[in-house]
Amino acid sequence: MTENKRLLDTFQPNHYDLYLDIDRGKKLISGTTTITGHASQPVIQLNQKYLHFTTISADNQPLPYTVKDDAETVEITLPSAGDVTIKIDYTAPLTDTMMGIYPSYYQVNGEQKQIIGTQFETTAARQAFPSVDEPAAKATFSLAIKYDEHPGETVIANMPEDHVTDGVHYFQETVRMSTYLVAFAFGELQNKMTETQSGVKVGVFATKAHQPKELDFALDIAKRAIEFYEDFYQTPYPLPHSWQLALPDFSAGAMENWGLVTYREAYLLLDPDNTSLNMKQLVATVITHELAHQWFGDLVTMNWWDDLWLNESFANMMEYVSVDAIHPDWKIWELFQTSEAPMALQRDATDGVQPVHVDVNDPAEIDSIFDGAIVYAKGSRMLVMVRALLGDDALRKGLKNYFAAHKYHNAKGSDLWQALGEASGLDIGKIMNSWLEQPGYPVVSATVNDQGQLVLRQQQFFIGAGEDKGRIWQVPLNSNYAAAPQIMSDREVILGDYQALRQQNGQPFRLNVGNNSHFIIKYDDTLLQDILDHADQLDPISQRQLLQDLRLLAEGQQVSYADLIPLLKRFANSPSAIVNAELYRIANSLKMFVQPNSSEEKQLRAFFDQLSKQQVARLGWLPKSGESNDDQLTRPYVLNAALYAHNADAMAAAHQIFSDSKDWLNELTADIRGLVLKNEVQNYGSPALFDQLIKAYQDTADASFKQDIRGALPNTTDPALIKRLVALYKDTSVIKPQDLRAWYRGVLANDAGQQAAWDWLRDDWQWLNDTVGGDMEFATFITVTAGVFHTSARLAEFKAFFAPKINTPGLTREIRMDIKVIESKVALVDKEQAAVNAKIAQSLN
Ligand code: BES
Ligand code: ZN
Repeated sequence: MTENKRLLDTFQPNHYDLYLDIDRGKKLISGTTTITGHASQPVIQLNQKYLHFTTISADNQPLPYTVKDDAETVEITLPSAGDVTIKIDYTAPLTDTMMGIYPSYYQVNGEQKQIIGTQFETTAARQAFPSVDEPAAKATFSLAIKYDEHPGETVIANMPEDHVTDGVHYFQETVRMSTYLVAFAFGELQNKMTETQSGVKVGVFATKAHQPKELDFALDIAKRAIEFYEDFYQTPYPLPHSWQLALPDFSAGAMENWGLVTYREAYLLLDPDNTSLNMKQLVATVITHELAHQWFGDLVTMNWWDDLWLNESFANMMEYVSVDAIHPDWKIWELFQTSEAPMALQRDATDGVQPVHVDVNDPAEIDSIFDGAIVYAKGSRMLVMVRALLGDDALRKGLKNYFAAHKYHNAKGSDLWQALGEASGLDIGKIMNSWLEQPGYPVVSATVNDQGQLVLRQQQFFIGAGEDKGRIWQVPLNSNYAAAPQIMSDREVILGDYQALRQQNGQPFRLNVGNNSHFIIKYDDTLLQDILDHADQLDPISQRQLLQDLRLLAEGQQVSYADLIPLLKRFANSPSAIVNAELYRIANSLKMFVQPNSSEEKQLRAFFDQLSKQQVARLGWLPKSGESNDDQLTRPYVLNAALYAHNADAMAAAHQIFSDSKDWLNELTADIRGLVLKNEVQNYGSPALFDQLIKAYQDTADASFKQDIRGALPNTTDPALIKRLVALYKDTSVIKPQDLRAWYRGVLANDAGQQAAWDWLRDDWQWLNDTVGGDMEFATFITVTAGVFHTSARLAEFKAFFAPKINTPGLTREIRMDIKVIESKVALVDKEQAAVNAKIAQSLN
């Protein structure tokens, strides 16, 4: 679809009256949509999907129409062009797809219940009502809902309820907004409410399967986030309320519907008395992400999906900006370094990756650009670069003007660059377009040449085979030497005589200080040694960056993987959680160089013991009162390493904790519960334990506890239990489709279970396609498979199965890239296996 084929070009809706009668018993929606708008020609199209029309009329005159299912439209012939009010009567099925209007299932005290909710982004509003379902087709909406209601139920929507007549709930008219942001929900809900300083009502809603205290954390964060954004954006929140609703079945993580944000239960509700710090941080960033969208996305919306980054990259950056203001003690930008930065650097190094700004037309393609690594992680890093260049004052001034100019309307990337450019006097578009429009990123090499000059050179970085097209980026260098330019715009730059510069500056030469620019650095031996000699003086982000860049270079075969091993020992006793996160990421990646049950594996386990020993002794198993956040966050890494090492004391300690708490596992401290369960399943497993954990998984409403069970059970080594587990994949009463990928990945990553999981994926591909095929999560089943595989045998099987599916809309890029991802690992193992194992052996002596 090119721009001139948008439905909005021929029909511009102005207002929708939506009447929906939802019968849960019959699983049927009966609707009447009345659209007022302007037709620029007599023949117009509206979007629809799975709708059955009874009548379509204007001024009580029936209109001829043709349903075009392939295009997801209905073509209507009006008497003439001009202003018109079209009335459409239709029915639609209420289906379990987690898209459109759909039921969520849950239990309270063993009783089955459901909540009806909605998920319209990206193109599912058309499954609920006929509409011009494009982000630029903004209109006002008056919603009226009737349902098979019984006492004790509540219905909520974007706007407050106005009145109820004859069982029909009428809601206040919305402001001008896009169709994909319309939302409502009903069922037996509990809620907690508060109000912002500016008088916005804030509420958290959930099923009654949860304890009321699970709503408190979200309520506090939501209120403070709205207050923060009103101040930061200098633009008021424009609706009377902001509801946060947790839905038991939810395909994405959360959704920014204006005034009624919806969430996975795990991303909104938590037990304030027993939830790990990283879970709290995750929930806080999800809430602040969606609330950032209330402005960036809802008030001002991208004109078309190609500029999705205007929504998602921005919200992703603002998560951290706001949480940092709300909880400065969390050092949340460190989380940015462990989640967004590595995700972006990894995926963006595979040839065939898309740029942040990408042309899209087909609905399946639109879903596929919601790529966590690119439009979220890389996009947010891009905007962090912008923020660093501008400073917060100019950024806020620019944003204020941007909102004022485009509110209740749409914008393109260039509109944002213009507003920020005017506020700062910088040609920000010129710098950013090299990041926005080009895929990939550079490795900047820093070398001292034969003449003794310090030279920088940029070149696209690839992991695996890549075609070098000579791309150049505008690289904010952030050097600690003033001789380096602020922006490197050329392929090469010479900074001057190295010895003189080194003396002048009195410290090792470094680039990308703070690691907020999207590139990695390859220092030559002299420069690297200088940095390593002074590494103790580096802050945690810089230490971590050093390890991370070297790992990426090793994956890209630019340095030897074996050279990473001495560095692990060097940093093993770091008190910083983010250093340990990268350290153990590298350590865990060494597993791909050893065969299960080999002498090399045994040696690797001994190496893990060596790495973790002192930290395990320092931290112990149970959290200590008053300990630092870093200690809390570090403990799981080192304990996990000790368990991998088969350290007898660690295994016994975890087993003892399990035995002591086996009747109240939900109350066992969440920081280590996952590891205790994993140890039990792996080393002390039994069918009885399996049954106990599956039952607990079904019964508990605590998302953290569920997650811990989901992480532990797939580690069973008993073939009979693996078989039973894989057989549950399609049993939605135990494993909800929204959680299936994690269960699948867990068994796949288990040497004893890999074959069973992989067979399941191939045998049940059609079922998977039918169950989650339409949603954004589907392609990620392929991604996680490629993330685990690293042998040539699996590569061949992967290709044999997925290559024939390469033309499936929405899967093409994923399959192509994932083949490269596995190929690169196979080549790496082949090349480095001997050197890596030799180095591990050596470091044990
Ligand atoms: N707008 C998205 C949700 C979405 C994604 C809807 C793809 C339809 C298709 C929402 O704002 C979002 O980004 N959600 C994230 C979680 C977020 C905290 C990063 C998600 O669902 O993964
Ligand atoms: Zn988002």
